Amino acid sequence: MESRMKIGILSAGGDCPGINAAIRGVGKTALLNYGMDVIGFNNGFEGLIENDYRTFDDNSLSGLLTLGGTVLGTSRVKPFKPKNTEQDIPNIILDNYKKLGLDAIVCIGGNGTQRTASQLSDYGLNVVGIPKTIDNDVWGTDVTFGFDTAVGIATEAIDRLHTTASSHRRVMVIEVMGHTAGWLALHAGIASGGDVILIPEIEYDIEAVCERLVERSGHGKQCSIVVVAEGLPHPHPNKRSAGAYITRKIKKMTDLELREANLGYILRGGAPSAADRILATRYGTMAARLISEGQFGVMVSTQNGQQTHVALSDVAGKLRLVTPDNKLLLEGRMLGVCFGKKPE
Ligand code: F6P
Repeated sequence: MESRMKIGILSAGGDCPGINAAIRGVGKTALLNYGMDVIGFNNGFEGLIENDYRTFDDNSLSGLLTLGGTVLGTSRVKPFKPKNTEQDIPNIILDNYKKLGLDAIVCIGGNGTQRTASQLSDYGLNVVGIPKTIDNDVWGTDVTFGFDTAVGIATEAIDRLHTTASSHRRVMVIEVMGHTAGWLALHAGIASGGDVILIPEIEYDIEAVCERLVERSGHGKQCSIVVVAEGLPHPHPNKRSAGAYITRKIKKMTDLELREANLGYILRGGAPSAADRILATRYGTMAARLISEGQFGVMVSTQNGQQTHVALSDVAGKLRLVTPDNKLLLEGRMLGVCFGKKPE
């Protein structure tokens, strides 16, 4: 009788809604469709190093679809950049992988996780990556799960901040996460009708921002919404956040009344949106199928609306950032949104 394949799953890096849906997608497909055994490593790559895992069965995979966070826990442990250099961490991992009789591992994570996944693949493990992050900045895929939910949370929050800004005739500066990419600020800014959207990929002129806000106030606009990506460059990154810096500058340069809000970790919390549940499930089932077909060293992805996969070596160490020709950026400009540049 053919021996059953055995796979491991881990989630690493910043958590986000949808990870449990992805774990469920991989696990149920592997168990029920391909007759594989499934284990989950706790706390990201740390579990792989410490041999800290749990066995999944159909029951333990139930109830995960709608659950925020990750039941496996996560960490930012980087096996190829160990703090304790005495140990040969990659070899410890390979040894654990072999002793457990694993045929493959699925690494659910952002760009850092996919880089480690690529290194483990080069080291001899069979690896399939699944792109996860609210930042949407993983190279090789048009979308990561976690992003849609974060855009929805941010949009709902900015809508609420809009009503209070309007009541008090204030400028509200709202900072959103996104690491060094502007995807979250761009999408949530457009979705919530942001008047000014500042992202790391576009050089901004604070004077142009102030001019636009003063002009809006002069034309009787009740309030203005300024959405700032956390990765926006500014002179004092160690002293204050990007949102706080922009607020301070506008206060100094205008007579406008301002308030600031930082949405931070709220954007990573709670249940996944329907779209993220579906995307995470599709990525999970695809990862299990690729393993059943013996396709390793790849990351599942979406390109031009189609599920596909890319080589981990093509993904590792790269970031996918907003480009100047991005359609939503151009459409925002057509709407009159200020992205921080002085009018040409
Ligand atoms: O990568 C997701 C993310 O939330 C980024 O948007 C943010 O900059 C970072 O993680 C925060 O990292 P941590 O959770 O380790 O503070």
